[in-house]
Amino acid sequence: MGECLIKQVLVIGGGLAGLRAAIAAHDAGCDAAVLSKVYPIRSHSGAAQGGINAALANHPEGKDDSWERHAFDTIKGSDYLADQPRVEILTQEAPERVLEMEHWGTYFSRTPDGHIAQRPFGGAGFPRTCYAADRTGHHLLHTLWEQCLKRNITLYNEWLITCLVVHGGRVFGAISLHIPTGQLQAFGAHAIIIAGGGHGRIFAKSTNAYINTGSATAAAFRAGVPLEDMEFVQFHPTTLYGTNILITEGVRGEGGILVNAKGERFMERYASTVMELGPRDIVARGIQTEIDEGRGFKGKYGSYVHLDVHHLGADVIKTRLPGIRQIAMDFAGVDPIEAPIPIQPGQHYSMGGLACDENGQTPIEGLFAVGECSCVSVHGANRLGGNSLLETIIFGKRAGEQAANIAKNADKPGSESVLNDVLREQEADIKSLKARTKGERQITIRRRMQAEMTEKVGLFREEKSLTKTVEKLAQLKEEYKKVIIDNKGDAFNYDLMDALELGGMLELAEVTAQTALRRRECRGSHWRTDHPSRKDEEWMKHSLAFFNPEGPPRIEYEDVLITTYEPTVRKY
Ligand code: FUM
Repeated sequence: MGECLIKQVLVIGGGLAGLRAAIAAHDAGCDAAVLSKVYPIRSHSGAAQGGINAALANHPEGKDDSWERHAFDTIKGSDYLADQPRVEILTQEAPERVLEMEHWGTYFSRTPDGHIAQRPFGGAGFPRTCYAADRTGHHLLHTLWEQCLKRNITLYNEWLITCLVVHGGRVFGAISLHIPTGQLQAFGAHAIIIAGGGHGRIFAKSTNAYINTGSATAAAFRAGVPLEDMEFVQFHPTTLYGTNILITEGVRGEGGILVNAKGERFMERYASTVMELGPRDIVARGIQTEIDEGRGFKGKYGSYVHLDVHHLGADVIKTRLPGIRQIAMDFAGVDPIEAPIPIQPGQHYSMGGLACDENGQTPIEGLFAVGECSCVSVHGANRLGGNSLLETIIFGKRAGEQAANIAKNADKPGSESVLNDVLREQEADIKSLKARTKGERQITIRRRMQAEMTEKVGLFREEKSLTKTVEKLAQLKEEYKKVIIDNKGDAFNYDLMDALELGGMLELAEVTAQTALRRRECRGSHWRTDHPSRKDEEWMKHSLAFFNPEGPPRIEYEDVLITTYEPTVRKY
């Protein structure tokens, strides 16, 4: 254990949201540092492909676009569960933030007259998704990382957060495991920003990277921040059959079509006006229905349908979709210039997350959340493609500035002795985990959780199987109390890391299943086959789950902020 490291603003997570927050805190005059499980440019933001939304009106068919239209599409896409004032912030600030990224060096694709190119995306009334071929996240991430280097912002790479320390309603700091050495370290901070990304790995079939376990989300949940709207899980319509790697919505934006085993362009049945450019929840359910009703192609890993782009021609594919072409060739042995890509829906994103306001402030003083791990409530029950990259830079900046305000006005960070006491407890826990020889291996428990979530908390849900899943997860949580690991070493002990993270994953899975069980209606991504309609009178509410160390989470509900757009039937 080293001496407690003190920072004014500590950002946990080195993806787009975390880096943008750190830049904002630094520019507001604070000593900001980023603590990340991986080197920042390996963060999962780099896997985002298709683009970032902003009403720039650069496309010939998008000349009438405006931030208000962007707001309306987002709210309709959310099935009216998004908090409308927050959506207005997102869409109103979008052009300025995207242009800032351009000025900082993001290598956006261009229109013939040199403006940022925009493509159509699902559920959007106008082509407003700005893109850098199909590697938009990669380019944005490198831009922000360069900006951090330019400012000499401290980057603590390869650190896993193990817990947050909160005392008297205020955040004091965090305890973190240094992955290369296995040593625990206490970090004291005036303000902490959680920007740990998604937790898609609680599912077996996911576009998410192995690192997307939600460790920072779980730490904040345990520290007392409620999780909001966790039943809303986005299943991306097009993930590569076999590996579930993302195949961007940009493929359909460029004109790709979906075809079943009978040769039918089946989206006619589910979104006849917009076809493949329906919002993700509707397109994913359409594909899954084709598969479930026997019109998919059969394969070793279940069934799939075809995503066909060959008619776009080699030039368009090579210039606008080079990344997915490479992925399809490398991982499915298919060149999209010549043959269709086999795809199926897969978990992609969590609309729910740590409850916070428009500046990322959680109910705990000095503790902020931003990006996918947060729920500022701009996506509601279904997120539009291209709005998550946007969320990271809009709310990253706001959270960084607000955290800096708090940090600059604070007298001193929390007491080191409180932090060191927690650190010693954590060291003892790890020691006893390493010493345990009887119990279940972490990988066995993890796989059971992932299978359960994928089979029963997927695109279609119903009471009986959700009830069983809730029981199963409670049982897995019991087994986890005696989890064992084989690797007893210190350096790069991924067996230990996986075991530590699994506890939080089980909690996030449990909240997802519990809130899905209670919400007896269909809304956005949450489709209950036993309650097949949206019920506004009863369910125009956010769920809030509170950590309960003794058992299942306590669940409460809160009203949705509806200011401008009255909820109506959602049709495409
Ligand atoms: O399909 C995609 O390119 C993903 C974009 C997103 O999740 O916003």
